[in-house]
Amino acid sequence: MANILVVGSANIDLVTRVQRVPKPGETLLGRSFDTVPGGKGANQATAAARLGAATWFAGCVGNDAFGEMQRRNLSAEGIDLTHLHVHPSEPTGTAVILVAEEGQNSIVVTPAANMGIRPDDLAGMAEVFARVDAVVMQLEIPLDTVEAALDLARRHAVLSIVDAGPAQQVPDAIIEKADVISPNETEAEALTGVAIQSLDDAREAGRELLERGARRVVLKLGAMGALYIDDKEWVHVPAFSITPVDTTAAGDAFTAALALVWKERRPGDALAFANAAGALAATVAGAQPSMPTRAAVDAFLRTQG
Ligand code: RIB
Repeated sequence: MANILVVGSANIDLVTRVQRVPKPGETLLGRSFDTVPGGKGANQATAAARLGAATWFAGCVGNDAFGEMQRRNLSAEGIDLTHLHVHPSEPTGTAVILVAEEGQNSIVVTPAANMGIRPDDLAGMAEVFARVDAVVMQLEIPLDTVEAALDLARRHAVLSIVDAGPAQQVPDAIIEKADVISPNETEAEALTGVAIQSLDDAREAGRELLERGARRVVLKLGAMGALYIDDKEWVHVPAFSITPVDTTAAGDAFTAALALVWKERRPGDALAFANAAGALAATVAGAQPSMPTRAAVDAFLRTQG
């Protein structure tokens, strides 16, 4: 069994299903509304646990009903929450999400309490870092905390994976210190300036990241699949064909699955396993509710030959 630590965000997602995303100034009627546990970090921790990892989650929620909802859900997944902090004043992070008919989403995150997980909070976690096989981070928490987690991962010789979402520019230190950096198309564009419309664009963005000091890059490309690139090779793995219901958190399922198998598989096999987890997540509505189990991913891969 793999041991995985996720250092990251926990949000409550306020999800409205719409026929299409409104234009500026336009009011539309939504089709349904749901309050769902989400946040890239908490989603990845949930996915890691369901995929079979012993999982720790370090983050920060507010002293409110949304924070309690997260705690209940993560705890029901068997995730160790010793390092889930409660912010003294800020509310739990939220994400306002519109899911359009074809499953595509638009998201606005207000991090709020997520900014309360500070580098100092990691100082007491040496014992956890010493036990885990991989540390997974995203960019919805302070970037100096991400960097501190990368330093600790290096000190303990633990694999570190940075999911580069949400899209933003980051200091070179984060790109250089991560063992694997994994952006989707919009995140890769924010990091490199390369707009990704084809595999060639994705390879160019990957090469840009290597030039900025990245060691290994895994690009999540939605319908184009996933691309691995390091200074010696690149491997493209096509996407599985599915009918998406809601793509929210599909990338989170992908990142958690990648962390689970990265050390034991070649990049192509690891990306195929992660693609399967992401594809399954896109067939179910909501963030944490859609994170697949290991049995579901294995069964899906069998049906895909
Ligand atoms: O990756 C999907 C997640 O992004 C959502 O659950 C939302 O909370 C935002 O963090």
